[in-house]
This record gives sequence, structure tokens and C-alpha cells, in this order.
Amino acid sequence: MLTFKLENRSSDSSARAGSIHTAHGEIQTPIFMPVGTLGTVKGLTPEDLLDCGSQIILGNTYHLYLRPGAELLSRFGGLHSFMHWDKPLLTDSGGFQVFSLAALSKITDEGYRFQSHIDGSSHLFTPESVVAMQDVIGSDIMMCLDQCIPYPADRILAEKALERTTLWARRCRKTWQEETGCRNSLFGIVQGGMFTDLRKRSAEELVALDFPGYAIGGLSVGEPAELMYEMGAFTLPLLPENRPRYIMGVGTPENLVELVSHGADMFDCVMPSRNARNGKLFTRYGDINIANSRFRMDEKPLDETCTCYTCRHYSRAYLRHLYKSRELLAYRLNTLHNIHYYLDLMRCMRAAILGDRFAAFRRIFTEERARGL
Ligand code: GUN
Ligand code: ZN
Repeated sequence: MLTFKLENRSSDSSARAGSIHTAHGEIQTPIFMPVGTLGTVKGLTPEDLLDCGSQIILGNTYHLYLRPGAELLSRFGGLHSFMHWDKPLLTDSGGFQVFSLAALSKITDEGYRFQSHIDGSSHLFTPESVVAMQDVIGSDIMMCLDQCIPYPADRILAEKALERTTLWARRCRKTWQEETGCRNSLFGIVQGGMFTDLRKRSAEELVALDFPGYAIGGLSVGEPAELMYEMGAFTLPLLPENRPRYIMGVGTPENLVELVSHGADMFDCVMPSRNARNGKLFTRYGDINIANSRFRMDEKPLDETCTCYTCRHYSRAYLRHLYKSRELLAYRLNTLHNIHYYLDLMRCMRAAILGDRFAAFRRIFTEERARGL
């Protein structure tokens, strides 16, 4: 099981720096986790990920269960050895991916009955089965099965989903204890829609179950950023100070800075990798689209302050050329840069918290990002 050490608290915000110790090594927080849904962060090797400073990556139970499947992963001794990644690995439980990808036939207290987005075959995810699957994957941090609801959602639905999420958390915890011997760690996921009293109830019910860490789900589902911030700021302090706090599926660089200021420790999002493949690149001075004709003859590196492989070796004009030509290397170089940007942002926040200058860091971050490239 993991241990979490709180290393410093910022005096001018609720930002915190810490470290998480797992069987596959240490994670320094706050941290961003690149998404490697199918056992690969698209376009990058594990060595590339290490070069960018990745300390932990995320996989998806839903996808890995459908393909390559439990039998194969079990034969290969889990995902770490199958994909040649021996650092920490976190897996999402599958509920959210069923909700967003599968043809969902039924959600009941039993679990999710759904049809595969690949071949239409029928499957059932239960709290018990997703913990067992994450144990086969060998995930260092497993997530409970939860029910995420869309935005907007009414109070009746939000309350039902939170009750089911607590029921499932209890069953996940039991399977974790009785079937896996707590070999790895299991996080609870707070739901409750956009209702503060429901968020409070969800947090209290999960905290009573005493998980090694806690996530906040149901954010970045289409609500305005201000509402997401309000929910994060309200819910984060309800979680135990001595456990890692993970905001699922968020977000933009601005989202990360804001939520770190409220005490979040961990994030994952497809944004840096997916946007990279669509030519949308993050830089210190704002976001750009590399296809833009203004970069046609531009000899400068993408981001003059960035130390990633892409920025050390290539011009904006070359990156634009690759992207416009749909060359494979475009996806790879763009992804390397965006992941590096996100991880570097987290490292800068951590350094600022450790030096107790988070508010100053944040002012400069906001000013530079708004300046434009
Ligand atoms: N990823 C983004 N949001 C969520 C959520 O609410 N639940 C789960 N399990 N994964 C997520
Ligand atoms: Zn770069």
C-alpha cells in the first residue's frame, strides 16, 4: 500500500507539496499523470515519458479489459512488464469510460451492463470485477467503481448516483481487502454533482471507509470553469490532509493551477496528448495551433523557454510542415512537447510551494499565459 508524506503547505493558499511512495517508486506532488489508455501514451515510448519527467501514468480498465484482456495481461504478469514501464501506474475503474464510450444498456446497483464500443459484445462491470481486473493489471493505484453524471443533472439523479457510488465503494473496498490482500492501493471517488451538500455527504461517507487516497470525480463534464473551481474548492478541504487528493479528468493549465491552490495533489487529462495530435500546443505564453500560417517561415523553437526534445531541435516552421503533411513524427514531437509542458508546470508549482512563493508564481503564470506567443 502507498504512503503519503505532506512536505510543505503554502502560507498564501491551500496548495501543498508532498510525496507518494509506491511499490514502483516515489511520486512527487502535485503531479500530472499522462494518459496511456491502452498501455501506451500514444506516440511515446516509456523512455520518452521518462525524458519528459513522467513519474506515473494512467491506464483504463475499460479498454484493457476489452483488449488485450485479463487472460493475456495475467499471462504477461500485468501491464508493467507487458508495456515495459516500471514506474507507478494508476488505473481508472471503467465506469466513466462506459459512461462516455460504450453503448450503455443498464446501470443498476449490481453494476454496469454495457456493449463493447469495439464489437458490440455484452459485458458486466461490478465493483468486485473492476477491482479484480485492476489487480490483474497490477495497477499501483486502483480506483473504485463510481457513477459519474452529466452536466447539468438534477438533484434526484445526483443523490442516487452518490448513494450508488458509496455502496460500490464499500464493495470495492471489501474485494480489495479480501481478494487482493491490499497488495496495491485503492482510492475512493467523491461524486454529488454540482450540489455542495451532496458533495459533503459523499466525501464524509467515503472518508468513513478510510481509503489510502481520494479522488473528486464528476468535474469537467461540461460545467463552466467557475463552477468546477467552486466544487473543487468546497470538496478538497473535506478530504483528510494526510491522504493524496486526485482531481479526475482535469484540465487546462489554468485549471491545474487553480485547483492546486485549493489543495489538489494529482491530475490526469487527455488534453496535452490529444491536443498535440490535433496541432494544439501549450506554451508558457499561451496556446497555439501549429497549422497557423504565421508559423510558415518561423525559425524559432516552439517555446523558447522549453527544454523538451522538440524545442531543443526543431523550428516552428518544421513542426508546421510535419503537421500539415500529416507525418507521423508530427504527432510524436507535438506530444513530447505538450507532456513536457504539463509536467514542467507541475514541477514549477511544486518548487513554488516548497519555497513558499506559490502566489507569486501564480501571478507570473497568469500574466505570461495571457501575453500570447
Ligand atoms: N474521469 C473523469 N471524471 C471521472 C469520474 O467522475 N469518475 C471516474 N471513474 N473517472 C473519471
Ligand atoms: Zn518544448
